[in-house]
Amino acid sequence: MKLLSIETSCDETAVSLLACEGDEQDATFTVIGNALLSQIDIHREFGGVFPAVAKREHAKNLVPLLAAALEEAELMHESAQPLDPEKHERIALILEREPGLADAFFAFIESVERPALDAIAVTHGPGLAPALWVGVNFAKALSIAWDIPVAGVNHMEGHILSSLVTSEGERTYAIRNIELPLLALLISGGHTELVLMKEWLSYEKIGQTRDDAVGEAFDKVARMLDLPYPGGPEVGKLAARARSNSSRSVLDEDFNQVLPHQGRTLVRNGQQEIILPRPMINSNDLDFSFSGLKTAVLYLIKERGEVSQIEKEQLARAFEDAAADVLLKKTGTALQETGSRTLAIGGGVSANEHLREEFKKAIAENHEGVRLCIPSIELTGDNAIMIGIAGFYRASRGDFIPLDTLIADGNLSLA
Ligand code: KG4
Ligand code: ZN
Repeated sequence: MKLLSIETSCDETAVSLLACEGDEQDATFTVIGNALLSQIDIHREFGGVFPAVAKREHAKNLVPLLAAALEEAELMHESAQPLDPEKHERIALILEREPGLADAFFAFIESVERPALDAIAVTHGPGLAPALWVGVNFAKALSIAWDIPVAGVNHMEGHILSSLVTSEGERTYAIRNIELPLLALLISGGHTELVLMKEWLSYEKIGQTRDDAVGEAFDKVARMLDLPYPGGPEVGKLAARARSNSSRSVLDEDFNQVLPHQGRTLVRNGQQEIILPRPMINSNDLDFSFSGLKTAVLYLIKERGEVSQIEKEQLARAFEDAAADVLLKKTGTALQETGSRTLAIGGGVSANEHLREEFKKAIAENHEGVRLCIPSIELTGDNAIMIGIAGFYRASRGDFIPLDTLIADGNLSLA
């Protein structure tokens, strides 16, 4: 099956072409075309993602990215292809809401042959609704022009399934021999969830954040420390510096002495240490909370008035340690309670080096026999390959969405 996939849920515009083979339990995915444009440099000026700006950029970039991916896959053959007037009218109506996209779309579609593709997969949620709609409408327009069915993909399912792949050569990924139950820890800018898969591709949410997502907390702490957007990786770098300069002398019992929203400074062995709370770490459920942790960082900064570079590094490290501890504890409990055989970690925050190391250690030490699946770095952030992988499963089940019912849903849930 040859599949075109489109991702526009946040600040990455991405288009991929995958050649998929095999069946659900034993599938390979070869990337034959891949084009991605990050809007980070544009959003950095604003210190965050503005939905209207993201929408405009997606609309501007989708056609050139599709052309680049098709070219790479050798599926781009230029020749005049006048569009049937009835199709033209339907597409014009759909693209009316995407200024800048329609002209480029028609110019492109009337100049290339229909590529040999079997399905289109598009992210239809969750994410920023205006951004999602551009991708969805683009997929609809292509579907009409080329008579190709569309599968709607849940972005979070894309993160889960792309974490399960093993690499087979430079551009081929495989998903096989996945033992169930599978527990997925989803950590991104919008989500912090524990999702259980007892049966293949059937999801049950067993824990989630009650306030901020962990990636959101990383980004907010980064802003407090005057780090550029997106803050997650920057906080990670600062924390790594603190870690390489000194080993931690904080004891476990020190955490019992901090209030849920307040950190404090401790001097031990002549060295200053910052202690931050571990929100909800002992709660009797699988939920998370990161808002208090973020506030604790804010209070400590305010208390000091001015924060030195060394203190910034210490704060970043204390924050990363606190977030990691809570994620590890709850995930460990969930693994035990569910008897899961596989732990999949997905979402942008899974790029965090400290977390990756801590999870590897924890699984090896405390959860013998559990297979840990963490995506390779190139698949941690948003991309269209993950949407294509999830799209393959939808398409092989004939799970296509009729165009008149296909909508973008910013709050689309997995379970
Ligand atoms: O999955 P993703 O790319 O987009 C969403 O679906 O939200 O996740 C983005 C989030 C951002 O909050 C970003 O700061 C965070 O992932 N992130 C990181 C790292 N790389 C990205 N957080 C911590 N450490 C990192 N290395
Ligand atoms: Zn994501």
